[in-house]
Amino acid sequence: MKKVLIITYSQSGQLREIVANILKPLEGKVEIHTEHLKPVPAYPFPWNDLTFWDAMPESVRMIPSGLEPFGINTNAEYDLVILGYPIWFLSPPIPLTTFLKSEKAQLLLKNKPVVTVIGARNMWVNAQENVKKMIAEAGGLLKGNIALSDNHHNLVSVITISYWMMTGKKDRYLGIFPKPGVCDSDIAQSERFGKPILASLNSDSWDDLQDELIRLNAVDIKPEIVSIENKGKKLFKIWSAFILKKGGPGNPERTRRLKIFKWYLLFVIFAVSPIATILFYLTYPVFFWKINRNIRYFKGIGLR
Ligand SMILES: Cc1cc2nc3c(=O)[nH]c(=O)nc-3n(C[C@H](O)[C@H](O)[C@H](O)COP(=O)(O)O)c2cc1C
Repeated sequence: MKKVLIITYSQSGQLREIVANILKPLEGKVEIHTEHLKPVPAYPFPWNDLTFWDAMPESVRMIPSGLEPFGINTNAEYDLVILGYPIWFLSPPIPLTTFLKSEKAQLLLKNKPVVTVIGARNMWVNAQENVKKMIAEAGGLLKGNIALSDNHHNLVSVITISYWMMTGKKDRYLGIFPKPGVCDSDIAQSERFGKPILASLNSDSWDDLQDELIRLNAVDIKPEIVSIENKGKKLFKIWSAFILKKGGPGNPERTRRLKIFKWYLLFVIFAVSPIATILFYLTYPVFFWKINRNIRYFKGIGLR
């Protein structure tokens, strides 16, 4: 029987639910081993205001933290590794970075097919670029990517995800906003991605997997969101360097800079990004080919 290793990090359980559905067609047909990453120190969920913003510099700069020891045998040979993760500040969450930069990742991923599964708000392409590089550095072979997002309007999902992250409640804020996160039907229907994964496992041929997943709408990318995200990632790199000058995680010295970053980001999201979106569409015909080339690239699994 083929052996599949699942490594996930999820605070609310949303990502674990997506992965569990993807695995349904594989159940009973392959051996499944699961490892949920447990960071040390743990990140709170629900978050409070300061701890949330305090996770930004290390997420963006991909500075590893600690992880509890693994329950699985890291010397075992797996036929496939599935990595499931959410996005933190346009970057991989610190627990995933910590794993991917560890010796364990080298042991588990070397020469192994890897499929990534993302459960995000709507901005994940830059984080996936970071993850592609870390998988390659660990010797893994990325063969597929499934990325599910909250498909409500960008500004609406900022409000609903903030409410969810700060209260732990995945329900309708004030009874008027939509439910936060990936919608229930998208989570339930993610079962369809398991079939091509099982077929690739059985035939040991992975070359067509991503095309098949794209055909099943496993990756939905909105060009105007990618445009905002790309600009945001550059700014996050500047801000993270500025905040890190005041020390590491939890250092009270950096609180002032984190607060300034918070208000800056809220201003950019609610005042600047709507204007940037209008400008994006006004100039869309000029950049049509470039934008479409980028979207094709981000839907794929290659590394530039
Ligand atoms: C600290 C933090 C930062 C986040 N930043 C982003 C982001 O930049 N882009 C995005 O699409 N989602 C972002 N999210 C939302 C997550 O991608 C994800 O949807 C949410 O955390 C639920 O994931 P879970 O499975 O860990 O509960 C962020 C969440 C947290 C906690």
